[in-house]
Amino acid sequence: MMIYLDQAASSFPKPTTVADAMVKAVNEYGANPGRSGHQLSKCASAVIDKTREKVQKMFRNQSVDRVVFSLNATTALNQAIDGLSWKRGDHVVATTFEHNSVRRPLERLKKEKGVLVDYVRPNEDEKTWEEAILNKITSNTKLVIVTHGSNVTGEIIPVESIGVSLKNSGVMYCVDASQTAGVLPIDMEAMNIDMLAFPGHKGLLGPQGVGVLLVKNHVNLRPINVGGTGSHSEELEQPKIWPAGWESGTLNTPGIAGLLKGIQEVEKRGLSTIFEHEKSLSIHCIKGLKKLPGIHIVGPGEEENRLGVVSFYIDGVDGLEVAMILDEHYQIAVRAGLHCAPLTHESYETSDKGVIRASFGIYNTKEEVDQLVAAIEEIKDGLLE
Ligand code: ALA
Repeated sequence: MMIYLDQAASSFPKPTTVADAMVKAVNEYGANPGRSGHQLSKCASAVIDKTREKVQKMFRNQSVDRVVFSLNATTALNQAIDGLSWKRGDHVVATTFEHNSVRRPLERLKKEKGVLVDYVRPNEDEKTWEEAILNKITSNTKLVIVTHGSNVTGEIIPVESIGVSLKNSGVMYCVDASQTAGVLPIDMEAMNIDMLAFPGHKGLLGPQGVGVLLVKNHVNLRPINVGGTGSHSEELEQPKIWPAGWESGTLNTPGIAGLLKGIQEVEKRGLSTIFEHEKSLSIHCIKGLKKLPGIHIVGPGEEENRLGVVSFYIDGVDGLEVAMILDEHYQIAVRAGLHCAPLTHESYETSDKGVIRASFGIYNTKEEVDQLVAAIEEIKDGLLE
């Protein structure tokens, strides 16, 4: 049996109810939602509507119509970023912990539209995230975009205090919750978040192929994809009807049916139980690894509030080789390298070597973490012999 410690990339296994719901969607009502008036189409629409309502309530978006389903967090983030109207000189503040799903759309805006982008993190002068971000805001700042949790280090960024400090600033605030949806509470109202993006297949325990973008009512967003929306077919222009106008093409009904079951499992367990479990595994892992000479933990230590993600490197040892040995000889799945977040590695000076990342989910156990630590000790000793 494989020990799966790559939960930050995709949660696995899923609750059995997820696959059951997907099979049912394919076998029993595999019609096109929102396109035809017949019973099977209505059945598909009903599951999608139920999931939309569940998501709206969970994250406290103003309107259920502004819960937009997409393929994954990347497509949701591209819609959020590219959907705003940009002109030369507009300015964005982001963090150095952004994933390429935020950084690349921003870099493209920089190159193609002359948008200015600052990537920040706390430093000697600006000790908090709020200070680091607020100090960069100018009259041209249009967007602040922040990842809630680093996919490399498990560090949590205080999105609520940042949001509150941006209140009445006129700056749009977008949060990438790829690592935190289904783990930490997120309340768009209380946190003053204008747009929230996340995947269904990580902490929410759904299948791959569904992402979500939540958009507050006041946000004016141009759809990045236009096409069939199931209504107003005679019009040449994309209908400005939420959510259909922002969801051109057939939705992933089986995936959305599976996501609903994943969310229900998260609700059953409770966010604080999930968070505490994953955090305790990361602390156990850090404590175990720190006993081994030559191992360096990258990011917050065991005493800090953190997600269930632990990254480390071993002096004189190639991380990719370690991950390969873990996989092939120990049946342990981790992810090594740069994790699509090169800026994070720049800020930790690990760009040259990358790190080995172990990430934990609801089904992982302390015994599995112990096996990882024991395997790392053996591999390290073997490679450095
Ligand atoms: N963004 C995912 C990860 O961190 C895929 O591995």
